[in-house]
Amino acid sequence: MTISMKIQKALEGASWIRKMFEEGDRLRRVYGHEKVFDFSLGNPIVEPPEEFFAELRRVAQNPIPGMCRYMVNSGYAETRSNIASTLSEETGLPFTEGQIIMSTGAAGGLNIVLKSILDPGDEVIAPSPCFVEYTFYVDNHGGTLKLVETREDFSLDLEAIEGAIGKKTKAVLINSPHNPTGVVYSEESLIQLGEILARKSKQYGKTICLLCDEAYKKIVYDDLKLPDVFSVYDHCIAINSHSKDLSIPGERIGFVAISPLAEEKEKLADAMAFSNRTLGFVNAPALMQRLVGKLGHVSVDISEYQEKRDLLFNSLVDFGYSVVKPMGAFYLFPRCPIDDDVVFVKALQAKNILTVPGRGFGKPGHIRIAYCVERWVIENSFEGFRELAIEYGLK
Ligand SMILES: Cc1ncc(COP(=O)(O)O)c(C=O)c1O
Repeated sequence: MTISMKIQKALEGASWIRKMFEEGDRLRRVYGHEKVFDFSLGNPIVEPPEEFFAELRRVAQNPIPGMCRYMVNSGYAETRSNIASTLSEETGLPFTEGQIIMSTGAAGGLNIVLKSILDPGDEVIAPSPCFVEYTFYVDNHGGTLKLVETREDFSLDLEAIEGAIGKKTKAVLINSPHNPTGVVYSEESLIQLGEILARKSKQYGKTICLLCDEAYKKIVYDDLKLPDVFSVYDHCIAINSHSKDLSIPGERIGFVAISPLAEEKEKLADAMAFSNRTLGFVNAPALMQRLVGKLGHVSVDISEYQEKRDLLFNSLVDFGYSVVKPMGAFYLFPRCPIDDDVVFVKALQAKNILTVPGRGFGKPGHIRIAYCVERWVIENSFEGFRELAIEYGLK
């Protein structure tokens, strides 16, 4: 067999999200587009904001020599400087372009960070459930992802995190707003997390990093203010993306921001530029870098997502489902009426409703619903959700 044992094994456990997405394609061919309610993928249907297209036209109509050439591996200085200014405004910290590395989305960003900090055998701790790909990203760089359960409401179990940190721990990786639950971690819990990391770093005589995946940073509801992660701990690295806030996931653009207070921040930035190059990304897409540098304060219309969250959340609760109300991102993570989430996902599938079993995110007994879909998909799925709620005795 040509394929490595490791990849064979990874493929056998094939992503649930992908499986459900493919099932969606099959169902659409059989029943027609309007009869399938596909909540499997976090692929937003909202179009990018007008400001994005205006920038795209401006850049296309005013080509400058060399605009498609190689550049330094961390990206254009002007773009990084604009991002640094926005972060300084937001945090009050003296960010400069030296602490910003442009990346190919958050996925590319996470990989350059992990490659830069991990030695073989190092552990990265993440609250569970979590974004499926973390396991693979950490493994890509010789590390092991160690999952720590969250509380009933998916908030951080700080005692459990503290207990899980050991001498092999290199980083704690959090994601807020969160995929798959939609929770936003409170400022209080993040302050405590920062204190734990400072204490444990001292105990083990090394720096444990706080990695913050902020792919959904701007998708926050009810005027909630997302706590500033840089203020809770010095050795903090944020991984950001425009896939969701500008609705351009196919364009692969994001950035990594290293706290100006982090130890060895210059060396870290050099390491990430090196990792960008040697992982084969080389640099983030040039055209997108020219656009997003000017769009730091722009995002898609969040109210549209909030309306969909309200519509779906209120209806599911009304039908009898137990759901934690999301504060951001565009996912709901209800508890299944039965223990076996795969059986429940199949029951939904029989009603042409496609969701992803919670076990795909490390948390069986739940399903993930990605509601970045058209409103009619949500409305027309209600009948199926209601019928199953009755069938399984929720009401
Ligand atoms: C939590 C989380 N992190 C990272 C990513 C990767 O995003 P990107 O498209 O920016 O690589 C996603 C994508 O869905 C995500 O949900």
